[in-house]
Amino acid sequence: MSSARTAAFRPGRAPTAARNSAGSTLSRWSRSALSTTDNRSRAPIAEATAKKLWGGRFTGETDPLMHKYNQSLSYDQRMWREDIDGSVVYAKALHAQGIITQQELDSIKEGLEEVGKEWDEGTFQVAPNDEDIHTANERRLVELIGDAGKKLHTGRSRNDQVATDGRLWTMRRLQVLRQDLRTFLRIACERSEQEVDALMPGFTHLQPAQTVRWSHWLLSHCAALQRDDERLRDMTPRVARLPLGSGALAGNPFGVDRQVMAEDLGFFDGVCPNSMDAVSDRDWVIEAIFCSSMIMTHLSRWAEDLIVYSTAQFGYVSMADAYSTGSSLMPQKKNPDALELLRGKAGRTLGSLAGILTVVKGTPTTYNKDLQEDKEMLFDVMDTVSDSVRIAIGVVSTMTIHPEKMVLGLSADMLATDLAEYLVRKGMPFRDTHHVAGEAVALAEKKGCGISDLTLEDLRSLSELFEEDVAEVWSFDRSAELRCTEGGTAKSSVLEQVAKLKAYLDEE
Ligand code: ARG
Repeated sequence: MSSARTAAFRPGRAPTAARNSAGSTLSRWSRSALSTTDNRSRAPIAEATAKKLWGGRFTGETDPLMHKYNQSLSYDQRMWREDIDGSVVYAKALHAQGIITQQELDSIKEGLEEVGKEWDEGTFQVAPNDEDIHTANERRLVELIGDAGKKLHTGRSRNDQVATDGRLWTMRRLQVLRQDLRTFLRIACERSEQEVDALMPGFTHLQPAQTVRWSHWLLSHCAALQRDDERLRDMTPRVARLPLGSGALAGNPFGVDRQVMAEDLGFFDGVCPNSMDAVSDRDWVIEAIFCSSMIMTHLSRWAEDLIVYSTAQFGYVSMADAYSTGSSLMPQKKNPDALELLRGKAGRTLGSLAGILTVVKGTPTTYNKDLQEDKEMLFDVMDTVSDSVRIAIGVVSTMTIHPEKMVLGLSADMLATDLAEYLVRKGMPFRDTHHVAGEAVALAEKKGCGISDLTLEDLRSLSELFEEDVAEVWSFDRSAELRCTEGGTAKSSVLEQVAKLKAYLDEE
């Protein structure tokens, strides 16, 4: 073994003996196995590099760590179907322009179908030089069908190809996500209708504030998730624009019909209007991650409420065993892990949102390899949000409510606002009624009783406007029922919210 080979390059680690001197570290690195002139060890790597799809101009070999660092196949292979769909459509476009013959087109289609079958059945063999799904599929196609396969990439670049695959993949995933989100909304809607009679404390600052219906609380989260569904709907046309036919950056010189390709692939909003933007643009990734992050943020707040409501101290709800776990030490424990994970995973998606914006922000116009970093974040976020919505569906369809515990959470002081409003109805300006009701709270505190235990004389000592009928104020049900404007917590208003949400869900 030559000394150059003994001091073999180890990715990420400078040889220890040389660490103290910058000069010798550098020289050791440059004398590493990579740059050695030992042809016996070098030849197979160099040959392999020349075989890369872009290997023509290269004579030096790729650092193995560089290959690992550069490759995206380990994760972008999940777009194999989109890559094949895009290639079939592109081959047709080339044929329409007379670039490939009917025979070549048929052979490419057959070959691609075979490649797809291999992915589908898990028999696709990754070759050492496969860099990403695009190079892997093309390499395999050429292996299968020979020269016709080499014509497929005519006028196409991985820059327009990757954007096409990614958009197609995202379009398909957004559709599934929306379906799941709407399933959640439908179940929550049905629950809200069935459980409309349950009253509970509504909180501000997590302090008991006013009486609300349990369903009103649940529907408040539906309102947020409905906006998310609208957001997904609104962003979809911006994803559904075809980059293919943009080439590396300047456009396609073979006159491929982009409109036809767009139609064939289901890009219903047409084609990207500018080839340079088409290969630069990752807005669709950012928007998908943003919309998912909003969903996660909303689910996280929903989960946080339920975590609190399911504590022994509250006891408003209990989680089904299917979404809870136990403690390895404390036998009595039943922990709301599903909800805590929803909350935790929201943090993770927000990290990706900051991550993708940061990756894109400084890149010069058109394609730069930085953009390859979009995929792991996109895939991870889409997987996380999809799993999370499905877990939320499980939780919302299996949890049990305990209205008797909710009622215990209602305290008379939560009717102080209603007391003030009683005086408003007797003609006193609200600002003054607020003051009087505050004095009633203080008086009750002083007397050591609840506000509803104050006698009529007590109240009349604060305002002459109090009469016998003040007794009506001390009803939580009345308090809820008074709030019967659109969007309020009265039964009729809550059922109206249910009806509107149902109509929204039935619309599409
Ligand atoms: N794997 C690459 C990506 O994910 C595909 C595009 C490569 N383009 C290039 N010019 N190197 O972004």
